[in-house]
Amino acid sequence: MALQPNHSSLPPTIEWRDDTLYLLDQTRLPQVCVVEAADSVEAVWRAIHELRVRGAPAIGVAAAYGLCVAMQRDQPAARDAFLTRLEQHAAYLDSARPTAVNLRWALERMLAHARGDAAQTGAALYEALVDEAKRIHREDIELCARIGEAGRALIEPGSGVLTHCNAGALATTGIGTATAPLYCAHRDGAAFRVYADETRPLLQGARLTAYELQQAGLDVTLITDSMAPALMSQGLIDLVIVGTDRVAANGDVANKIGTLGVAIAAKHFGIPFYVACPSSTLDLRTPSGADIVIEERGAEEVAQLAGRRVAPEGMKVRNPAFDVTPHALVTGIVTELGIVRAPFDTNLAALFKTGAPA
Ligand code: MRU
Repeated sequence: MALQPNHSSLPPTIEWRDDTLYLLDQTRLPQVCVVEAADSVEAVWRAIHELRVRGAPAIGVAAAYGLCVAMQRDQPAARDAFLTRLEQHAAYLDSARPTAVNLRWALERMLAHARGDAAQTGAALYEALVDEAKRIHREDIELCARIGEAGRALIEPGSGVLTHCNAGALATTGIGTATAPLYCAHRDGAAFRVYADETRPLLQGARLTAYELQQAGLDVTLITDSMAPALMSQGLIDLVIVGTDRVAANGDVANKIGTLGVAIAAKHFGIPFYVACPSSTLDLRTPSGADIVIEERGAEEVAQLAGRRVAPEGMKVRNPAFDVTPHALVTGIVTELGIVRAPFDTNLAALFKTGAPA
């Protein structure tokens, strides 16, 4: 059964309506809930770059529609000229953020679809692109539901589950990735506690995960990132589940900065550490975590808190947006095809060959 979280007060993360792309501005949640039309490819690029739409799967869906927006306004009549412009717009959108592989994945899929379509006119190719973007969108919703069912059994009644950043409904167009097993367990009536790391510096955990789980009626408690090991030491956490922006071929996992510390602490306390993602986030072209480009964002995100400067003027700042958790710290990767476990290099490759975990 496709499960929709109880987001009665939330509009969809992404919507394509009347040939217009609408994006929920996640930078202003939960205080302000605004949906804006992204009416140019530059507007879509900025929305991704500025995290108004964020989370790996949602970035992929937004980019797919972003190409539709681009070709709506810049539509050469002839096939070859259309495909050339499409490639240029795809390269531009791909530059919006470097770490989430779903961005490249969705753009490559859109390009392959257009190239493989027999249409000879720009207008017909545009329609084919819109159909493919809608397909990517529908699949995202379905994959989230399947991740939820695949990971449902990990949520023990009475347990405490820690998550980091937002790999929730807001990071996708469905019920999230890391949150999908939580929503399914909640649907089934299981009682359990969720702890949401606030996730410095941009507070996706506090602003988005805590918000959407609370809206859906789950028992969620917000903690600062530095509290997680203490809660583990007190026996309050039985399971960690996070999302990811890219899994390398050897099972190394890039996710929001702070995930690595959570994984190390979980290992120390013998707590299972799971990662949830659709198979489009598994990047067998990237051999290991060392090969993943980590986005470095502006200093002001760290030097300020809620828009107010807290660090001294002139302070040197580092702001890597993601870190890499070595595969040795990962208990399993929950995908729509099932849970992949070590050895990740062979088992991830086998997943694509057989369509099921070894
Ligand atoms: O910088 P963000 O907010 O896009 O980072 C998001 C994350 O790190 C998520 O955990 C990841 O994209 C998985 S989303 C299902």
